[in-house]
Amino acid sequence: MVYRGDYPLRRVLDEKRHMPGALLPILHAIQDELGHVPADAVAEIAEALNLSRAEVHGVITYYHHFRSEPAKGTVVQVCRAEACQACGSDALWEHASRQAQNADVTLEPVYCLGLCATAPSMSINDKPYARVSHAKFDHLLAQLKEAA
Ligand code: FES
Repeated sequence: MVYRGDYPLRRVLDEKRHMPGALLPILHAIQDELGHVPADAVAEIAEALNLSRAEVHGVITYYHHFRSEPAKGTVVQVCRAEACQACGSDALWEHASRQAQNADVTLEPVYCLGLCATAPSMSINDKPYARVSHAKFDHLLAQLKEAA
């Protein structure tokens, strides 16, 4: 394992492997620490949980939350679930896609941030924002550029 010396994969596996439904907590713990789930962790996770590599890979690729590669720059997530769609998140997504091309941003879809009553919603590096208009999005992005 490339990262075994400085990444506590073994510790995460030892702590969580006996939990019911341990795969998701393990994947969350790894991504929380590294910002992604490295491809070379899949075999060791599979072995620890007595799963196939395909099963672990399938879960990682099924959930949009998990990344196999590190994100570049600031992570901006725009909610694309139903309540936000009903309040204009499709247009916000298109706007965000255009604006993100000129910024050091990784733009990702997310499927509900728990802010449905104040849609459309988004997050920037896991900080949630509600009632996001195009102007509010631009303002938040401008703040990011100023802070960089
Ligand atoms: S549907 Fe977007 S926050 Fe719930």
